[in-house]
Amino acid sequence: ADFDLAIRGGTVVTATDTLRADLGIRAGRIAAVAERITDAARTLDASGLLVLPGGIDSHVHIAQASGPGIVMADDFASATRAAAAGGNTCVMPFALQPRGASLREATHAYRALAEGRCHIDVAIHLIVSDPTPAVLGQELPALIAEGYTSFKVFMTYDDLVLNDRQILDVFDLARREGARVMVHAEGYDTIRYMTEKLERAGQTAPYGHALSRPELVEREAAHRAIAHAELVDLPIVIVHVSGEQAMEQIAWARARGLKIHAETCPQYLTLTAEDLKGRGAADPMAGAKYVCSPPPRDSASQAAIWRGLETGVFEIVSSDHCPFRYDDPSGKLNPRARDSFRYVPNGIPGIETRLPILFSEGVSKGRISLNRFVELTATNHAKLYGLYPRKGSIGVGFDADLTLWDPNRRETITQANLHHGADYTPWEGFGVTGWPVMTIARGAVVAQDGRVTGAPDQGRVIDRTVQAVPPR
Ligand code: URP
Ligand code: ZN
Ligand code: ZN
Ligand code: ZN
Repeated sequence: ADFDLAIRGGTVVTATDTLRADLGIRAGRIAAVAERITDAARTLDASGLLVLPGGIDSHVHIAQASGPGIVMADDFASATRAAAAGGNTCVMPFALQPRGASLREATHAYRALAEGRCHIDVAIHLIVSDPTPAVLGQELPALIAEGYTSFKVFMTYDDLVLNDRQILDVFDLARREGARVMVHAEGYDTIRYMTEKLERAGQTAPYGHALSRPELVEREAAHRAIAHAELVDLPIVIVHVSGEQAMEQIAWARARGLKIHAETCPQYLTLTAEDLKGRGAADPMAGAKYVCSPPPRDSASQAAIWRGLETGVFEIVSSDHCPFRYDDPSGKLNPRARDSFRYVPNGIPGIETRLPILFSEGVSKGRISLNRFVELTATNHAKLYGLYPRKGSIGVGFDADLTLWDPNRRETITQANLHHGADYTPWEGFGVTGWPVMTIARGAVVAQDGRVTGAPDQGRVIDRTVQAVPPR
């Protein structure tokens, strides 16, 4: 046979085109896109289905050190299993440099955790928490050359925050080496001021987390990051943008001609700060299930984020999957969590639900086009982070990373059907129209109808080259 696999009768969707076509797959890559492909060892019938590029989730946290006694709820096997079931074929977690430690050693140790334990491909970003002369002078340039071409910096969190001078030095290094920088834009001092004030007033329940990080905390940090990026002349990605105030900073920067990229997440489209009150549960800690940073805002913010998706403020939608178990001393209900919201680990699970939520709320409800959905969930992730033209679209030569999508299927999201290591989902009971029915990674079926069929060693850890596609 000419092909290992033919996918027949589906509607192929890319960021720019929608066409009726068959796909021929050979040796894990797309070898033909044609009206009719017959000579294949195996055939899958995709009639009535959309054939989409597999989801790329370029912002997920897996098995990341999270503070004393706190354990993330996913390892590579469970996170990539959940990702595959949710229609994804590549995820990008972070190797975190603990302060005082070697970034190189932390990265190699993290990669060793991933090797041989992934259902789908993984590409690793770095988190730089301690930009010492050795890190800036040797370790980071060497890691970038090895294929770790993107990293994240934080403007908050005791263990991760960089001061403005450190951010400038890291930006400068990224500019020289051609690396991509992601910025967590929330101001350390504004959060501390608010946190201490709320604690003095006794407002220590999980909802205090939202009060401690009003939008101006994000707006102020976004503005500062943009100013630093302008000074150094570096394009940056502002990640997990939650509302209109940070969006205004991004639009302002772009109007000045600056290259500022922006990401948002499903939580900012579907959750609000009110959820941190626990949705009426008797359990006073129930709101901890929704504690993430930045916190979800309000319905006006949700509408603003939708406008940003429609108008192009946002180029990518990631999950920011950062799972902690709820009913567990190593997670949300750790021994200090009841003392103050500040001890509730930040982050929510979402690796398996990102695509169905955005498809349903976006495409099925007519807010964004199918092509825009593909661009926001796959193509632009590949372009921003050096995976394009290997991944992120459908065409001859691309990896055969595909999701067969039933646009009409109705499902209700529920923890019982998810594959992650967390013990809850923030979207329990959320109804969606449109569902991934099969995930194909490098030509192999890895998930089908909610069952993960592939082995947990089929995915590879991918090295990238610097700026395969120049930033827009
Ligand atoms: O609350 C969140 N988002 N936790 C994950 C870490 C981060 O800042 O992205
Ligand atoms: Zn190395
Ligand atoms: Zn962040
Ligand atoms: Zn994150």
